[in-house]
Amino acid sequence: MPTIHLIPYGAATINLDVPEGVSLMQAAVSAGVAGIVGECGGSAMCATCHVYVDEAYAGLLAPMSPVEAELLECTASDREPTSRLSCQIKISGTLDGLIVRLPERQQ
Ligand code: FES
Repeated sequence: MPTIHLIPYGAATINLDVPEGVSLMQAAVSAGVAGIVGECGGSAMCATCHVYVDEAYAGLLAPMSPVEAELLECTASDREPTSRLSCQIKISGTLDGLIVRLPERQQ
């Protein structure tokens, strides 16, 4: 099972073992990670699941849809070059070791 490393804003890293096929947002919410809200349930409508993907892994993710790109203009914390919506990141074996930072706020 891939292991994902979440770095909350100003807090210690959280390591999660995530089954393949589950979204990063679902995994974080299920684990009670406070820095991910996921208000729309993963429908790419709220931008409260914003994360900053470590540069080493950004190129391994599926390309961003136009809808995701548009929503990332509406995040509560500033967008960065590797910003993504975690509900659009499906965990797979190639993402084992993925590191993401969580923004200061989601709303
Ligand atoms: Fe709403 Fe990701 S959970 S956009």
